[in-house]
Amino acid sequence: MAKQYKNLVNGEWKLSENEIKIYAPATGEELGSVPAMSQEEVDYVYATAKAAQPAWRALSYVERAAILHKAADILDRDAEKIGAVLSKEIAKGYKASVSEITRTASIIRYAAEEGLRMEGEVLEGGSFEAASKKKIAVVRREPLGLVLAISPFNYPVNLAGSKIAPALISGNVVALKPPTQGSISGLLLAEAFAEAGVPAGVFSTITGKGSVIGDYIVEHEAVNFINFTGSTPVGERIGKLAGMRPIMLELGGKDSAIVLEDADLEVAAKNIVDGAFGYSGQRCTAVKRVLVMENVADKLVETIREKVLKLTIGNPEEDADITPLIDTKAADFVEGLVNDASDKGAEAVTEIKRDGNLICPILFDKVTSDMRLAWEEPFGPVLPIIRVKSVEEAIELSNKSEYGLQASVFTNDFPLAFKIAEQLEVGTVHINNKTQRGTDNFPFLGAKKSGAGTQGVKYSIEAMTSVKSVVFDIK
Ligand code: NAP
Ligand code: G3H
Repeated sequence: MAKQYKNLVNGEWKLSENEIKIYAPATGEELGSVPAMSQEEVDYVYATAKAAQPAWRALSYVERAAILHKAADILDRDAEKIGAVLSKEIAKGYKASVSEITRTASIIRYAAEEGLRMEGEVLEGGSFEAASKKKIAVVRREPLGLVLAISPFNYPVNLAGSKIAPALISGNVVALKPPTQGSISGLLLAEAFAEAGVPAGVFSTITGKGSVIGDYIVEHEAVNFINFTGSTPVGERIGKLAGMRPIMLELGGKDSAIVLEDADLEVAAKNIVDGAFGYSGQRCTAVKRVLVMENVADKLVETIREKVLKLTIGNPEEDADITPLIDTKAADFVEGLVNDASDKGAEAVTEIKRDGNLICPILFDKVTSDMRLAWEEPFGPVLPIIRVKSVEEAIELSNKSEYGLQASVFTNDFPLAFKIAEQLEVGTVHINNKTQRGTDNFPFLGAKKSGAGTQGVKYSIEAMTSVKSVVFDIK
């Protein structure tokens, strides 16, 4: 019988009356089941979390950091074991899955250290006006309370750890809602925290379908901060339900790679292919369109094409570059974009081929603004090339997107790259490199429909704490 995974609730492992079976997207193998939590069980998670917070907050940073370091060590120890499960559960290549776990350990460790570096400040009223010269403000950061962390299927462990660790080090308690497809991996992450000695209630998990329990867990008045990564429609809904409460939203993207005439086309092509097709394009930061100057377009398309043809296609255990997409709905959506582009005259320069949910990497040249592929996020292995006549046109097309996560600029003219970067309406611009979240101490954020708030260890700690000022008069 397949394993029944349990939720970590107030320090105990619990089943629910109902369960959800989890199957491997690549093979259909049953991997186990996770509980479908009821509203009453969610109430209990939240109540016990709230009850646990005062004691957790009262610990010193050093004591909380020691537990986080232990959790990181456990993840490193178990990286291959957890990575193997993750690889099957979300059809991500085995090596990439193991490195998702070790990257999570590094983030947890860095968050523990960053907590130790947190400092307050002392302000003097006399710096503002003579009459207030006796006033002193002691300004410190304090935790918000209960953080609800919601992670997406494509990084169920890493984008959980990057929320949990900064929240915990600063004295918050956390409830993690992992993606359903990815929840077994999320529960294995919880095992690491439990083994590390996180006190009962300080970190608990909630499994269940977002479409069923999502609104309930978000609207619940016990929650003080919602830290969400996922699609823009769900993020927008959470934003509305959150009301006055602070939130962090990391959402979809349509990252452009802008390639100028003087670019090293080999470097550009390599980065574009790695960026567009890693994990079959199922990354928020994937390169999702190329905006190339007309007079180097032929050469760039050919160089990209050669590299796309070398991508391996198969199953995650074989570490294939391109693996089956997460589900049939996702594959159907990509096919819809591909058909629309084909119908409207885009030129496919690689073969269009689908076998179940496995979509072979597709490169489209001469994509134009009337095609959905120019604007929509495929979250699959399809890359549109849009030819442009000028830098201004590239900037305009890039900024016309409803998204604003990241962009890349490929050129050897650094001052020009900087000028373009200033004009792009995105959170981060990479020069001569692919779009990507790391390194994980850097700020990571999206403009427009790509999100609200800033991730990155230090920034996440700041987001999940608030300033408290104590003012008094000296004699
Ligand atoms: P999703 O469908 O929005 O789901 C994300 C998470 O939200 C899952 O845990 C999901 O649970 C949960 N959820 C669903 N409906 C909910 C609701 N009404 N209330 C509360 N939670 C709910 O996104 P996904 O398909 O997992 O991930 C792909 C998307 O995420 C892409 O658009 C991608 O660009 C974006 N993404 C963005 C970033 C970033 O940092 N900017 C990073 C990674 C991914 P269930 O699985 O149970 O439905
Ligand atoms: O899918 C969204 C992730 O935040 C992307 O992270 O650029 O390290 O793959 P990554």
